[in-house]
Amino acid sequence: MPKLVVTNRAGDTSTLDVGNGLSVMEAIRDNGFDELLALCGGCCSCATCHIHIDPADAARLPAMSEDENDLLDSSDYRTENSRLSCQIPLTADLDGLRVTIAPED
Ligand code: FES
Repeated sequence: MPKLVVTNRAGDTSTLDVGNGLSVMEAIRDNGFDELLALCGGCCSCATCHIHIDPADAARLPAMSEDENDLLDSSDYRTENSRLSCQIPLTADLDGLRVTIAPED
């Protein structure tokens, strides 16, 4: 079971055990982080699942689609480590991934 290390907007960090097949967004949402709205449910159309990836982990992620890239441009808090968490399946390869929930736009 891959682990996901999440820091919330208050700066508190938790380690989650994530069932196979879940996206990073689903893992965060299903563990009670209600600050991650994920309004579109993972359809890549809302950008309310915005996270920042720990720079040390960035190279482990799958490439970003054009849609994800365009949506992230709508955020005032986009950084070079921004991703939409619904677009990242938490596979065993990503065990220990560290992410921070981005500020709300
Ligand atoms: S949940 Fe809407 S873009 Fe990720």
